[in-house]
Amino acid sequence: MINVAIMGHGVVGSGVAEILIRSKEHIAKGVKEDINVKYILDLRSFDELDYKDKFTTDFNTILNDDEVKIVVEAMGGINPAYDFVKKCLSSGKSVVTSNKELVAEKGAELIKIANEKNVNFLFEASVGGGIPILRPMVQCLAANKITEVKGILNGTTNYILNKMIMDNMDFDTALKLAQDNGYAEKNPAADIEGHDACRKICILASLAFGKHIYPKQVETVGITDITLADIDYANAFNYVIKLIGKAKLLENGKVSINVRPTLVSRDYLLSDVNGVFNAVSVMGDSVDEVIFYGRGAGKLPTASAVVADIMDCAKHLETRKYLSWEDTDESIVEKEDEETKLYVRLTAKDFSLLEESFIKTFGNDIFAIKNKEKGELAFLTQKDFESKLTHKINTLKADKIKILHTL
Ligand code: HSE
Repeated sequence: MINVAIMGHGVVGSGVAEILIRSKEHIAKGVKEDINVKYILDLRSFDELDYKDKFTTDFNTILNDDEVKIVVEAMGGINPAYDFVKKCLSSGKSVVTSNKELVAEKGAELIKIANEKNVNFLFEASVGGGIPILRPMVQCLAANKITEVKGILNGTTNYILNKMIMDNMDFDTALKLAQDNGYAEKNPAADIEGHDACRKICILASLAFGKHIYPKQVETVGITDITLADIDYANAFNYVIKLIGKAKLLENGKVSINVRPTLVSRDYLLSDVNGVFNAVSVMGDSVDEVIFYGRGAGKLPTASAVVADIMDCAKHLETRKYLSWEDTDESIVEKEDEETKLYVRLTAKDFSLLEESFIKTFGNDIFAIKNKEKGELAFLTQKDFESKLTHKINTLKADKIKILHTL
């Protein structure tokens, strides 16, 4: 029998306990040993649960119990998760976490401790919820040099944008629905301002390119500035707006990485990823494009990935898994002057002047949607280098300019 402790009985932690208890026999068959939940760490009490006796409020009970071989961290945030995980790994316990903030900020250091102690530090659930993505990327696609990884990495924002696109729903109502369904982070700013997606693209990029990329190095823009008008204009151009995290290996070996609301062509598969679903596209030099799709948030989908990691740890208690990257003093991040089409929305008090400057710069050929009453004009540029296009757009006689990238 292998004893496990779960730290945190929130959405994910309670899902892990539920699967471990409900699917005990199925899991034992897979591992060839019973997995027993010995402790659950939480400051709250859950007297209504039939496993209420497993609860403890004292982390040291878990740390000092040599019978506990695997610890699940499902508390979220950096403190006290970082301290607890470090102590568990240092004392020779394997750790499984769904905490993307922890992995994105402290991954290299924790991986190093795990390697030194010959234990596992696994975090499949930290990206894409229930979607198997990290292990397939490093194992099934191992023969490939990864050149790009991108995708829809946040269920809450995808849910909100989808509600805006399909139901014309306003932002706040859609966010409230996502929170009620348990998709959003404790502080939804992490979702809507793009930080959650940023942490996930950092983990994917660190794994794909072998060096730790930190959230602060990533240009991150959330969806709070996206309006129903943007959604309508994008639709008229046959695009949908999605929050996309993207990391691309440049020819000089550096990595261009960002998170931003992006127009995705309706002809591309990712435009059809709706609701809380996530999708991650991986480009390999031999395999070309592979897309992973599934539920990116929610109790049981996320817990399913955590439990699979627990099972993997249980089967390889003595073996170190090769899910790792190194820290680096020198940044490998570089902003690319990307050749792309841009979505541009302009507002001006003097609409005639705006129209005149637009025609002078871009000619008559480009399809623009004009809303004279609102003094607004929106268009999609031709594919060109971002710097050149941005310069042209800045010369237009507009009071307000909004620019979004396309995928
Ligand atoms: N808040 C996250 C999301 C949860 O909406 O995707 C899963 O990481």
